[in-house]
Amino acid sequence: MSDWKNMEQWEMVLPPSRPTVEELDRIEKYIGSYSRAEPIAILGSTPEFRDLLYRMGFKKRFIFDKSIDFYQRMSKLLPLHTIDGEQLIVGEWLDTLQKFKGEFRVILSDLTMGNISYSDRYAFYQAIANALVFEGTFIDKALVFDFEVPTIDELFRKYEQLPINLRTINDFSSEVLFCSELVYEKKRVDSTELYCLIDNGEFSDKIKYFSKVARMITPEGFTWDYGIPWSELSNVYSSFYSEQVSYPNEDSKSAYFGRTKQFFNIK
Ligand SMILES: C[S@@+](CC[C@H](N)C(=O)[O-])C[C@H]1O[C@@H](n2cnc3c(N)ncnc32)[C@H](O)[C@@H]1O
Repeated sequence: MSDWKNMEQWEMVLPPSRPTVEELDRIEKYIGSYSRAEPIAILGSTPEFRDLLYRMGFKKRFIFDKSIDFYQRMSKLLPLHTIDGEQLIVGEWLDTLQKFKGEFRVILSDLTMGNISYSDRYAFYQAIANALVFEGTFIDKALVFDFEVPTIDELFRKYEQLPINLRTINDFSSEVLFCSELVYEKKRVDSTELYCLIDNGEFSDKIKYFSKVARMITPEGFTWDYGIPWSELSNVYSSFYSEQVSYPNEDSKSAYFGRTKQFFNIK
C-alpha cells in the first residue's frame, strides 16, 4: 500500500510527472474568466495547482489529500502566503469527495487515477462528477494506455546511451516503471518488485545505477494501478460528462510523449 509520507524527495520530481507549463497555461486560460469566488478543488497537494489558483486570486481553494505530512511537505515548496485560505480536506478521496455534492466549479487532478484501484474507479469518477456543479469541469491529466508499450530491452538499450542527470533519471522512472511491457503485462506498477528485478538481473552497472537513483523519484513500497488499455476504461471515465476535450502530450522529448492526455470533462 502506497504511503505518500514516504515520498520524501518530491523536489527531484520533474514534469511530466508533475504538471507541465503547457498544461498549466491551458488551465489558466480555461478558468481565467471565472469569478474568483467560485470554489475549486485539487485532488492531492500538487504545488503547481495551488500556486496557480492563489496567483489568479481564487478565494475558495480546497485541497483533498489523505496525507497531512505530504500536504505540509508540499506547502514548503510554495511561497509562504500561498497556503493562506486553503482548506485541507483530509481523507481518502472516495470518502471525502462524497461529502461534497454539486459544490465545485472545477476539480483539478494530475496523475491521480493510478492511485485508485481498478475496482474503485467507477465510484471514484462518480464521486468527482457528483462533487461538481452543473456544467462544472474535471480537469485531469491521465496516463492513457493506448500506445505501443516499449520492451524492457528497448528501454535499457536507450538509457545505456544516455548521460545520467536529473532529467534522465526522471525519464527512466517514467518510462521503465510506468510505461513498459511489464506494466502492460501485470496491469500494475509495483516499485519494490521492479527494482528487485533489475538489481538481481543480468543488467549492466549503468542500468543498475539508474535503478538505484530512480528511487529518489519513485521510492520503493509504492503501487499504482496502470496498464489496462484505455479502450477498456474510457467509457466509464467519460460516462459522467456531457462533453470532453482532450490534449495529448505533444512534446516529443517528453517521457510521456503520446502517453498522457489532459482532459477537460464538462458535466
Ligand atoms: C495527486 S497524486 C499524484 C502526484 C501528482 N503528479 C502530483 O503532482 O501531486 C499525489 C497526492 O495524492 C495523495 N493521494 C494519493 N492517493 C490518495 C487517495 N486515495 N486519497 C486521497 N489522497 C490521495 C497523496 O497523499 C499525494 O499528496
